[in-house]
Amino acid sequence: MAPRPIIIDCDPGQDDAVALFLAMSSPEDVGILGITTVAGNVPLELTQRNARMMCDIAGRPEIPVFAGCEKPMVRDAITAEYIHGDTGIDGMDVFEPQTPLQERHAVDFIVATLLATENVTLIPTGPLSNIGTAIDRHPEILKNVSEIVIMGGAMREGGNRSPSAEFNILADPHAANIVLNCGRPITLMGLDITHQVLSTRDRVARIRELDNPVAAATAGMLSFFHRYDTKKYGSQGTPLHDPCTVAYLLKPEFFKTKACNVTVETESELTMGHTAVDFWHVTDRPHNVSWAYEVDAEGFYELLTERLGRFPLS
Ligand code: RIB
Ligand code: CA
Repeated sequence: MAPRPIIIDCDPGQDDAVALFLAMSSPEDVGILGITTVAGNVPLELTQRNARMMCDIAGRPEIPVFAGCEKPMVRDAITAEYIHGDTGIDGMDVFEPQTPLQERHAVDFIVATLLATENVTLIPTGPLSNIGTAIDRHPEILKNVSEIVIMGGAMREGGNRSPSAEFNILADPHAANIVLNCGRPITLMGLDITHQVLSTRDRVARIRELDNPVAAATAGMLSFFHRYDTKKYGSQGTPLHDPCTVAYLLKPEFFKTKACNVTVETESELTMGHTAVDFWHVTDRPHNVSWAYEVDAEGFYELLTERLGRFPLS
């Protein structure tokens, strides 16, 4: 079976970086048409540099990397250096990557690719500014979107950036509103899922034992990423948010999902970016999302460790 064509839209971010590594580890399963970057955890000039660094480390400098929106569609930008560090990928040594930054704007790449290529899966793991802008400007691209697998939102878990909103959705709620209502199949990996896949010390140690540059970078980043969430939640590890999207492509059977309505708050400042997940179908709103609510966490880490182990030792 031919690899599934995908575009990863991200804001590296340690967890975005691991999602990139997981996708790059499995070329027989996913064909990365391009990596588009967006302002999010840190400003755009860092997220694009960080994405290119991951291509270098994974030995995939041929993957085209694009810079996109440096701010949300309507609101002012918010960032998360207090979690990810000033570089966005604290926990590993930063270097000037060889992988080039493409001239073309990420939104233009997304539009051109979707006009020319059928059955593309979009994997957004940051604020939805690039995807929302592309759909807003050229809705005709949607005919070639086979699925959108998003890291974002929260239901029972509550918010992580505000009491009621998850960071990616809060960072650009207007873009999220466009994407969630675009009419194409959407699978949403919210905090309810990502908080089930905690990068415990044992799991990180197993990755570090793989002893290749990708695993070393992953272990270093997760060890840094670990410190904030374990203190905040009193948990044994940090939620590994973004790789849940790629893991879903590789092993959908690891996840339980339910079709329901998810609506984004774009008016109230108090609950801006809140995802109202109608899990029990108490309204007659359309079921626009497959909401992920359970995951085989051990299977997830076995998959991640096995796939990261595929990279060469040096
Ligand atoms: O709320 C978690 C999400 O926000 C993750 O994608 C993380 O990388 C940040 O972008
Ligand atoms: Ca992210």
